[in-house]
Amino acid sequence: MDINEGKPEIHAGLEGIYFTESSVCKVDGQQGRLYYRGYPIETLANSSNFTEVAYLLLYGKLPTGQELDAFDAQMREERSLPGEVIAEIGRTAARAHPMDTMRTAISMLSAYDAEAYNDSPDANMRKSIRLISKSASIAATIGRYRSGKLYVAPDASLSHAENFLYMLSGEKPDKVDARILDVMFTVHAEHSSNASTFGVLVAGSTLADLYSSVTAGMAVLKGPLHGGADEAALRMMREIGSADNTERYIDDALAGKKKIMGFGHRVYKTYDPRARIVRSYLESLLSSPYEEQRNLAQIALSAEKLMIDRLGKAKGIWPNIDFFAGPVYVSLGIPAEVFTPIFAAARMAGWCAHMLEYWKSNKLLRPLEYYSGQLDLDYVPVEKR
Ligand code: CMC
Repeated sequence: MDINEGKPEIHAGLEGIYFTESSVCKVDGQQGRLYYRGYPIETLANSSNFTEVAYLLLYGKLPTGQELDAFDAQMREERSLPGEVIAEIGRTAARAHPMDTMRTAISMLSAYDAEAYNDSPDANMRKSIRLISKSASIAATIGRYRSGKLYVAPDASLSHAENFLYMLSGEKPDKVDARILDVMFTVHAEHSSNASTFGVLVAGSTLADLYSSVTAGMAVLKGPLHGGADEAALRMMREIGSADNTERYIDDALAGKKKIMGFGHRVYKTYDPRARIVRSYLESLLSSPYEEQRNLAQIALSAEKLMIDRLGKAKGIWPNIDFFAGPVYVSLGIPAEVFTPIFAAARMAGWCAHMLEYWKSNKLLRPLEYYSGQLDLDYVPVEKR
C-alpha cells in the first residue's frame, strides 16, 4: 500500500490554523496592530496600567473606579508567597535557570491554595488574580536570590511594578523606572494564541486545573523561539560588544544561517507594534550617563537598521518585542536571566483570561498527525535480530 495515499495537507507548526474563537485579543499581522479586548495597545501603554489591563483581560471590560480599587486591593493582598515556595526558590535559584525555578514555584502554589481544585468560574477568577499577583513576586524573588541577597517581603503600599522593583532590589524604586516597567508588563500581558497560551489551553482543555494549565504555559514560554528570545537577544548584543562590530556579526550570523533573536514573528509580517513602544524607551538610552546603556542602545539600533535592510522588506522579518526589551530592562537594573520570568509574570494575565474564556465552551484540543512510518512489520525476537 502506498503510505502517501490520501495524504492530507499538513500545516507544519499549525501555521495558519484557527482552532477557536476568542474576544481577548486581536493581532493584525499585516497592519502591525494589536488590541486587547478591542483597545489598541498604544492607548493602553500610554493611558492605562498593568493592573487595569489585567482586569480588562480577565473581565472583558474596563473597570469602573470602584471595581478597579477592589481589584487592585485584591492584587496587593495576594502578593505574599507561602514560606515553602520562598524556601524552594532559595534552594534552586542559584543552580537552575530562573524559568525552571519559576515553573516549579508556580506549580507549587497549588498546594497552598484551598481552592486549587475548585473549578467554579468564581474560584478560577480568584485563582487568576492570585496567580497574576504572585507570579510577579516569584520572578522578583528569583532575581533577588540569584544576586545572593535576602528575601524582601512585598509592600502593599506600592503599585504592581513598584513592588516588583522593590522586591528585586530591596529599595523603594524611582517612579519613572516603575512606570517604564509597568508599560513592559502591559505590552507583554497578552498576545492571542501564541505558543505558551496554546500550551495553557491544551493542558486546560483536558480539564486539568488552572495551576496545571499555567505551569504548562511556563514550560512553553521558556524556549528561545518564544519568551526566551529577550534574554538571548541581550546576550547577543553583549557578544557584539560595540556598534562597530554589529555589521560583521549580523552578516556572519546570517551567512551561517543563524537566527537573530528578537527578529521575525509567525504572525507579524511588519513591525511589531509592541517593539515600537519598547523602542521609544531605548532611544532615550542613547544619552544615558551610563556607558553600558548607551552602548547596548547603539548596538540594538544599528542591528535593527541592518536587519531591516537585509531581511525586513525582502522576507518580512522585523524586530519583535523581545529585541528591544533587554537594554530597557538593563537600564532598570534588571539582570538578563529575570527577563523571561517578567514576561511570564505579565503573560499570566493573558493565559488566565484565555483559559477562563476557553472553559466556557471547552473542547479537548487534540490535533492529528499524519503517520508516515511503516505498517505490519514482522516482529523478530530479540535473540534473532
Ligand atoms: N533571523 C534570521 N532569519 C530568520 C529569523 C531571524 N530571527 N526568523 C525567521 N528567519 C528566517 C528563517 O530562517 C526562515 O528562512 P528560510 O525560509 O530561508 O528557511 C524564514 O525566515 C521563516 O522562518 P521560520 O522560523 O520558519 O518562521 P516561523 O514563523 O516558524 O518562526 C519565529 C517565527 C519567531 C520562531 C522566528 O522568526 C524566530 O525564530 N525568531 C527568532 C526568535 C524570536 O525572536 N522569538 C520571539 C518571537 S516574539 C515574542 C513572542 O511572542 O514569543
